[in-house]
Order: sequence, then C-alpha cells, then structure tokens
Amino acid sequence: MKHYTFGVDYYPEHWPRERWATDAKMMREMGIEVVRMGEFSWAMFEPGEGRFDFSVLDEAIGLLAAQGIDVILGTPTAAPPAWIIEKNPEIQPTDWRGQQRFFGGRHHDCQSNPVYREHIRRYVTAFAAHFADNPAVVGWQVDNELGNSHGDLCYCESCEKRFRVWLKEKYGTIGELNRAWGTAFWSQDYPDFEHIRSPKITAAWGQNPSHDLDWRRFSSDLVCEFHQLQADILRAAAPGKFITHNLMGFSSKPSYYALGEQLDFASHDQYPGGHFHARHDEYRADWHAAELDFIRAVKQKPFWIMEQQSGITGWEVLGRTPRPGQLGLWAMQCVAHGADTIVFFRWRSCPMGTEQYWHGLLPHSGQPGRYFREVEAFMKQYAPLLREMQGALPQAEVAILRSYEQEYAFQIQPHHPQHRYTQHLMTYYKALHRANVPVDFVGEHHDWSGYKVLIAPLQFLMTPSLSEKLHAFVENGGQLVLTWRTGVKDESNLCHTDMPVPCLVDDLCGLQLAEYDCLRDTDGAVLWEGERLACSQWCDVVEVTTARPVAVYGHEFYAGTPAITCNEFGAGKCWYVGTTLSDALADRMVAALLASADIAPLMDTPHGVEAVRRVKGGKTWLFLLNHNACPETVALPAGFTPWDGAPWAGQLEAHGTRVFVSVSE
Ligand code: GLA
Ligand code: ZN
Repeated sequence: MKHYTFGVDYYPEHWPRERWATDAKMMREMGIEVVRMGEFSWAMFEPGEGRFDFSVLDEAIGLLAAQGIDVILGTPTAAPPAWIIEKNPEIQPTDWRGQQRFFGGRHHDCQSNPVYREHIRRYVTAFAAHFADNPAVVGWQVDNELGNSHGDLCYCESCEKRFRVWLKEKYGTIGELNRAWGTAFWSQDYPDFEHIRSPKITAAWGQNPSHDLDWRRFSSDLVCEFHQLQADILRAAAPGKFITHNLMGFSSKPSYYALGEQLDFASHDQYPGGHFHARHDEYRADWHAAELDFIRAVKQKPFWIMEQQSGITGWEVLGRTPRPGQLGLWAMQCVAHGADTIVFFRWRSCPMGTEQYWHGLLPHSGQPGRYFREVEAFMKQYAPLLREMQGALPQAEVAILRSYEQEYAFQIQPHHPQHRYTQHLMTYYKALHRANVPVDFVGEHHDWSGYKVLIAPLQFLMTPSLSEKLHAFVENGGQLVLTWRTGVKDESNLCHTDMPVPCLVDDLCGLQLAEYDCLRDTDGAVLWEGERLACSQWCDVVEVTTARPVAVYGHEFYAGTPAITCNEFGAGKCWYVGTTLSDALADRMVAALLASADIAPLMDTPHGVEAVRRVKGGKTWLFLLNHNACPETVALPAGFTPWDGAPWAGQLEAHGTRVFVSVSE
C-alpha cells in the first residue's frame, strides 16, 4: 500500500465548481497527498431512486488527480436522503422510550432495517462499480463514525426481530436463555423467543442486567454486520482498494476490536479542543494520548487520523481557539503515538448547515489565515519524518487491558455513581503518562506474553478461559494488576455462587473477599509505608491467604486491613488493588510496579511535557511535546540528537514540539 503523509477532508459539493481547481492547486502546494470525500452527500449522488449522478465526484477527483492527489471515498449511509425517508419512514430509528427520531440531522437510520439495507445495497453497488477502475480512488470509508449520534439507538421492531435471531443462535432453546438471564426474578420467564423485546424503558426503570448485556453485545454485532454488508460489496468490486473507518477513541457502542477485523487499518478522529472539553486550563493531553494508544491496539499497528482538528470547533457553542502552535502540537501527538498519516478536518469552514463553526484550515473567506499557515509550515517541516518513520511502534513493556465486555457490564451497574470503566483505566494510564512510560492497550483476545506488566482493572465478568489466560500470564513471569470487582459475575452477568470472590482467580490473587464498602459520602485513605494517600469509590475488605499486604486502609472499621496486596505466583506476581486510586496513590502504585518489573521510564519531564517514542529497526524517535502555554526546560537523555539537526538549547517553546533520534548499532 502506498504511504501518505498528510491529507484533508474535502466537500466540493459545498462550493461552486469554479473554485475546485484553485482548491486542488492550493492543496498540492501545501503538501496534501490524499483527500477524503463523499461521505454525506447521498441526495446529490442519487437524487431519485436508481438515478445516479457522480459527476461532482468525477470532476473533483479529476482535478485532484491532476495535482497528484489520491482520494478516499466514503459511503453516505449516515445520511439517507429525504426521498428515501418519504418513501420508507419506517427506516428512521426508535429510541429507548419507543419514540421515533426524525430526518434533519444525520444517522436518522435503523441499521437492521431490511428496506434500508436494500437502499444501501443499490447505492453502494452502483457507487463501487462507478469508481472501481478509477486509479485515483485508493480506498473506502463505510458510513461515518459508526456509533456516533446512534449510541442510544435503535430499539425498533426490526432491531427486536434481529435481536431474537441473534439470541436463538446464541442460546438454542428458550430454556437456556431463561437460565442465562435469570428470568425467575420478577416473573420474567419467556415462553418463546417471539416474546423477547429490546430493553426499553420500564416502569421500575431498572433492567434485567443479563438482558441488557446481551442487548449491548448484539448492538455491537449489528454495527459490525452493517459495516460488513457494505465492505463486502466494495471489496468485491475493487479488491485493490483499502477499507478503513474513522473510529472515535474510547467510544464504546461497537467493539472496535471486532470492527477492526474488517479494516485494512484503523483511523481515528482527533479533536483535542472539541466543544465538549474546550477549556485551556484543563490538562487533557493524557486522555488524547490514551485514545491514540487505544486506536493503535485495534490492529496492533500504526493508524491514520482521518479527521484532525484544524481550527476552532463547535456547533451551536464553540470551544477556545487553538493557540499558536497547538494545531501542530496536536497533530504531532498523534504522530508520536503511532499515526502514519494525518488527514485534517476540514479544508474550508462550511457556510451552511449544522457545522458552520466547525472550522477548517481555510476560513469561510477562502483566504489562508493563521490556522492554514501554521499547518502548512508543520506539514512542510515534518513530511520527511512521517515518510521515514512509517510503521514504527512504541515498544511498550506495559499493557492495559481494555474490554468492551467489562465496560458494558459497568455501564449497566456502575456500583458507585461516579464510577466509569474508562475513567478507572485512566487512573493507571495517567500515572504511566506522568512517568513517561510507553503503554499499549490490549484486548482479552490479544497475545499478552510480550509485556512485563499487564494492568487489567475490573475483571468483573470472569470466565474459565479468561481465568486461565490470566493465570498463564503470571505463571510465565508476568506482573498482573487486578482490582476490586474482579471475579464477581459469569459471562451472562449472573453472580458467581459457591466460590470465594474473586472467583476463579482467588488463588492467583492469594486472597478472598470478606466484604466491601461503597464510599458514597466520603473518600477513604490508604497507608503505604506510613504515607497517607487518598482513595475513593470502593473498598474491598480482604483476607489474605498467600498474598503479602503492600498497603493498608487508613479509615473505617477496616483500617489496618490490606488495601493493596502482591502475590508471588509461578514465575510472576499478581497485585490486587481493592480501591480506586487517587493520582498520588496511582503514582506510588506505578512506581512500585516499574521497580518490581525493572522498567525504566523514557525520561523525566516537567508536568505537561510529554515524552513519547517510536522505534523501527535500530532507530528510536523521541518526541517531546510541550502542552503548557509557557516554555519548558528539559534535560535530554543520553544518545539522542535533534532529528532536524537544528540546535537544541534544552528548551521547548510554549506548545512546542521537538523530535530526536538515536540509532543503536
Ligand atoms: C465528526 C464527524 C465529522 C464532523 C465532525 C465535526 O468527527 O466525523 O463529519 O461532523 O465530527 O462535528
Ligand atoms: Zn432499528
């Protein structure tokens, strides 16, 4: 596959034809090599059933190709046109309350609806055939951000019907489903699969957690099936073109591990200043770093950014404008964490519709301003770096296990009102980030054997196969971190019985649960070698069998009992953390782990300065990223020299970045 450095998302259909040649020329001059188009304009490309008109795309592709720019085309199935909705209003989605949602935004579609799928089949078949032999079209994107604006949809009759088929395949008999769902409680027995519905709002609000978990698994599978329908058509028509998808970091509706199986490589949309977290005074670079590390886990290889922030963002309300240097810094953070290609969203701010204020490289006027000039300078400077570094990975020794299964289970039962699965993982990630330790995310299905440390919080649903895999990792010398709410449920979301918690891993942890406390109205404290550090949300009270207490609680009637333990097992160690760690406690925990596993951080940096590496062959690229609004002084580790040969005086500018290299013989 050809490698690209930089690209842009482009919507020629929003602009007069006379401007397109100017755009294409400006793109080439600034260093754009690839453009994504077409993912929202179904109404233009098929103005009536079976009447296709791809002339806008044909012409735009021709002008771009004349400048040497290649194209990725999206299928527009996130925005079915008004004439389809008029003809088949039943394809609009239904929410949790049984209320239909209507045309006028996007994702106003039900992904299981067979009538909608017929419309899609017709469009995508014609579209794929039309562009299959166009050499400038190098790849496809199916739909757009699957799961976005659709996170809480769809509960309609068509989806219920598809759910029943999914359940029949899974359980075989209704008796087995009734057992797995524990329907003896509150008279929920189903005499027949035909009686099962989507888990809509109930009179009591509460849902059956087993029903709900299967619904979330089904909803993930449905998104993958929806993607597969289109991917199959596209691949059959054009086997030489790649398929990718613009994923959204930690978004959880579909499992990206599962969706990733259909992709040639993963892509991600990165908006560090997005309207949801749009404060300059809030440090979010750790979250952005984590989402990038997670996207790298989808295919366990470098990825693309399909939408990189290009300016101030927002819909009805806006965030802060990116400060000088930040657009380059944010793009460089993506590169540092494994992006081989950066596509900026969007070329030019749109004059119409919902996203008038989601700014592009060019303002509405079309005249280059600060955003454009900063990004252009960044692209010119770093295109050679992206070329030489292609395929390089961070060589992490620490992995964090991120599981969609466990996340779904905690979405259903968070236990503590402030407890969120991803935030919990982030307490560990953030401490590793502060220490400049490279991290990979992994799923249950990945090979963990290359890591010295595996942090696997909240292994709530414990199956014999997961237990076996965790045991094997430690037996073979790995250091494993398990936490509270591990080994509580089976795969059906029923509580394990007749075994000590943490069920199936109590021997690995070297302890058993006596009881627990949910810290609803208070924080707690942990004493670690005399130091008092805060904890929150939850406290497991444990009785150790073979584990050694590392730290004890400093509050409540269980003060003095173990809060954190470590158990030698086989050639490795299993740590158990009975509470949610404060930042200070997480720092202490991470320091203990690194010392125990003999892992060295990349380097020491001031707060807000991130150090990240990528490695290929014998070459290491070290990235220093200053997320602070003031200059920072940094001491470089031995053996590194500036990648660009420019002098290094030990200082990073405000929002500045520098890259260094070291080559081992
Ligand atoms: C998402 C979408 C884009 C656009 C931007 C800005 O990332 O993929 O189509 O809507 O957000 O809102
Ligand atoms: Zn539906």
